[in-house]
Amino acid sequence: MKVAIITGGARGIGKEIAVKLASLNNNIAIWDIIDEGEKSAEEISESFGVKAKYYRVDVSEYEEVTGMVKKVLDDFDKIDIIVNNAGITRDGLLLRMKLDEWQIVLNVNLNGCFNCTKAVLKTMVSHKWGRIINISSVVGITGNFGQCNYAASKAGIIGFTKSVAKEVAKRNITVNAVAPGFIETEMTVSLPGEVKESYIKQIPVNRMGKPADIANVVAFLSSDEAAYITGQVLNVDGGMVM
Ligand code: NAI
Repeated sequence: MKVAIITGGARGIGKEIAVKLASLNNNIAIWDIIDEGEKSAEEISESFGVKAKYYRVDVSEYEEVTGMVKKVLDDFDKIDIIVNNAGITRDGLLLRMKLDEWQIVLNVNLNGCFNCTKAVLKTMVSHKWGRIINISSVVGITGNFGQCNYAASKAGIIGFTKSVAKEVAKRNITVNAVAPGFIETEMTVSLPGEVKESYIKQIPVNRMGKPADIANVVAFLSSDEAAYITGQVLNVDGGMVM
């Protein structure tokens, strides 16, 4: 059985990824900062009979992350897969954006991805197998009005993914990014109806995506079958960006 860490796995897309990987007989470590993580891990181990555990960890804190990797290794012996999914938004026009709104988004989304990937890489190298999947966004490719901080963090993830992919390819470790389009989660639930309608008009398949649309792709990229795919950005967006 393989062991997967899913950051931001307590709810939304991350939880769906954890559920999908558990359904494929992987053991699961959920990393998050909200209490829901405990319940999600319990549900997963009851439903799929795998080992699933919740760890409270802020991915933007380097020392916390490295300490938590040691705990996961104590509990599970190895780490095969990491899905860097934890992410936040603090939307606003650059003219009005406060420095802390820029910094916190970069800290969680991009530095979090660096912290977690760096912390697990050694054990993957020593086991000669690894799958690193980073959740970017289509706005990291296109940019988006009112999201310069978020788009920069998600574009940064793409550059990071490609660079690390080149560094570790010979070691049987793949590194890929998934760029979701417009997905139904807590992150998008509070958007005004007319904003949602205008986004949906730009999606050829004519609907918002579901967390499972992302989880299915992550499951494939984390499998043995995806061994020859690395350094790629896979848009999962109903055709929004072509
Ligand atoms: P969400 O807000 O439902 O879930 C994000 C999870 O990350 C939450 O459980 C949250 O507690 C956790 N988290 C936040 N800060 C953290 C930190 N410092 N340390 C650890 N965990 C932390 O959002 P959703 O929609 O499930 O997003 C998941 C990922 O997908 C994010 O990276 C997001 O940017 C990305 N994404 C989402 C899209 C959407 O339309 N929902 C579109 C494109 C990308």
